[in-house]
Order: sequence, then structure tokens, then C-alpha cells
Amino acid sequence: MTPNTVEKTPVTLLGLGAMGTALARAWLAAGHPLTVWNRTPARAEALAAEGARVAGSAAGAVAANTLVVVCLLDDASVEEALAGTDLTGRDLVNLTTSTPAQARARAAWARERGARYLDGGIMAVPPMIGVPEAGGYVFYSGSPELFERHRETLGVPAGTTYVGEDAGFAALHDVALLSAMYGMFAGAAHAFALIRKEDIDPGALAPLLADWLVAMAPAVHQTADHLRSGDYTRGVVSSLAMQVAGTPTFLDTAEQQGVSPELLSPYFELMRRRLAEGSGEEDLTGVIDLLVR
Ligand SMILES: NC(=O)c1ccc[n+]([C@@H]2O[C@H](COP(=O)([O-])OP(=O)(O)OC[C@H]3O[C@@H](n4cnc5c(N)ncnc54)[C@H](OP(=O)(O)O)[C@@H]3O)[C@@H](O)[C@H]2O)c1
Repeated sequence: MTPNTVEKTPVTLLGLGAMGTALARAWLAAGHPLTVWNRTPARAEALAAEGARVAGSAAGAVAANTLVVVCLLDDASVEEALAGTDLTGRDLVNLTTSTPAQARARAAWARERGARYLDGGIMAVPPMIGVPEAGGYVFYSGSPELFERHRETLGVPAGTTYVGEDAGFAALHDVALLSAMYGMFAGAAHAFALIRKEDIDPGALAPLLADWLVAMAPAVHQTADHLRSGDYTRGVVSSLAMQVAGTPTFLDTAEQQGVSPELLSPYFELMRRRLAEGSGEEDLTGVIDLLVR
């Protein structure tokens, strides 16, 4: 048998929202037999025309294949959709966004019902699904055997990054990265606000901003080195003392531009508190210790 004639793993997919539909199309395009179910049946019609088998119920869809992928709105909808299905012997992969605690509870719930469980956190938007060059991927955590068994099939819609046996770790990585993203967006919002009333084209600022953020992003590697070594002064080039001394410039500029400092001030306050603890030789790593309760 040549690789071209090897049967592709059949997949059951519950949930045909924006993300589920994109996942479905990627598996269909790659030749995987696909059974789909959606609460609102009309959403499955286009996929039926593209070759998907449409199950009349969630129970029927789950019964169709060993590999069952779920991509629903939230954890409560997973509970509702899977109630009354027989998960015995199923390989359940839950790509629904959830908290780490929900993912751990869902893993235990699945085990009690005789299923193996993998949780996923999707780091992509639907147009990135099935487009490898778009760079989207999914964090997976939970059963390592399950991940290995289905690595190839799961890798069809997007890249795969396994982050550990703790079922909550995929959600935790997902939320960690998205939280950092919101911090970045908050900073960009402040930057645009500063120029808002000036004769400066936002379209001219945007590429400068994007390049600057990319140039600064590798600083996270030094943060990781500090946290691992416990030495927060290693390789510091911009001391906390210097940076705190600079904060009035930022706050005064915001005031002069008529911009609220509400996005910047909480971070500056943490920097000041860390400096007050006598950590002027560090850079910004010590702020993390102030956040962890
Ligand atoms: N879209 C994105 O950019 C994106 C990116 C990363 C991760 N995600 C995650 O992917 C998951 C799905 O997102 P989406 O964009 O596909 O959302 P969506 O377009 O709003 O679709 C939600 C899906 O959940 C179903 N659903 C909701 N409540 C239900 C219930 N009680 N019982 C059964 N089915 C229920 C909906 O069915 P009906 O059609 O019947 O309403 C629909 O299939 C979410 O957890 C989301 O956080 C999405």
C-alpha cells in the first residue's frame, strides 16, 4: 500500500459555527471522511454538498467515528451537546475555548464516560484554518497517546503544539498568549490616542508601531531567563530605576495630548512599587512577582 492509498482517519465534528465550518472544510479538502452535526441543521447543508455526511443527532455523530472533535461556543454548550451521547471508547478532542479548570473538569468527565480526552486552544481565526502558510496552530493538552495517535489528522486544519498531560494547559497557554495580545493592543490604543488630534496619519504610524513591537517582542526571552535563574539583574540594559524615572514623560505627554493615562498607569504603578522594594538594578521582570498572589 502506498501512502496515497492509505485510508484517511474518519472524523466526527460537532459544531458548525465559523470555526467548525472552517475545520470541516479543511478535513474534507484533505480527503478525510467527515461526519458532522450542528444544533441548527441548516448550517450543515453546504457541507453536505461538499461531501460531509450529516448526522441527525449528536449521538448519531458520536457513534459514527472513534475520533470525535467538538468545536462549540463554550463549555456549557459542550455539556448540552454531548448529554445523551455514548462516549465509550471515543477519542474526544475538545477545541471549544474554555478555562483551564473547565478543561480539567471536562477531561475527568470524559474519562468517567469511557473516553480518552485531548483539550485544544485554537490560535487562529477561521480564514487561517487549512492555510498552513497563515501560521495558525492549536495548543493541545491531555492524553499524550491520543495526541500521537491523531497528530497527523489534527495537523490538517492547523499546526499542532502539544503542551502537556495536564488537560488544562492548552487553555492556559491560549489565555496567556491572548492576554499578552490584549496588553499589546492596549499599548497600541494609547499610541494612536496620542496622535489622534494631530496632523499625523494613523496609516503612517501603523507600520512604525508594528515594527517597533516586533523589535521589542524578543525581550520576553530575557524575562524567561530571569524567571528560570532567579537573577532578575542578568543582562539588564534598561534598569527599572531609569525606566521609572522616565514615567513622568509618558504621563505628562498623555496629559498634554488630552489622553487618559488609564491604560498605562496601572503598569507604571507596579514598576514604582517594585522599585520601592529596592530593585532598581532589575528591569521589568519583578512586576510579575507583584502580580502573582
Ligand atoms: N471564530 C474565531 O475567530 C475563533 C478563534 C479561536 C477560537 N475560537 C473558538 O472556537 C469555538 C467555536 O467558535 P465559532 O467562531 O465557531 O463560534 P460561532 O460561530 O458562534 O458558533 C458557535 C457554535 O456553537 C453551537 N452552539 C452554541 N450553543 C450550543 C448549545 N447549547 N448546544 C449545541 N450547540 C451550541 C452553535 O450552534 P448553532 O449553529 O445551532 O447556533 C455553533 O455551531 C469557540 O469556543 C471559540 O472561542 C473561535
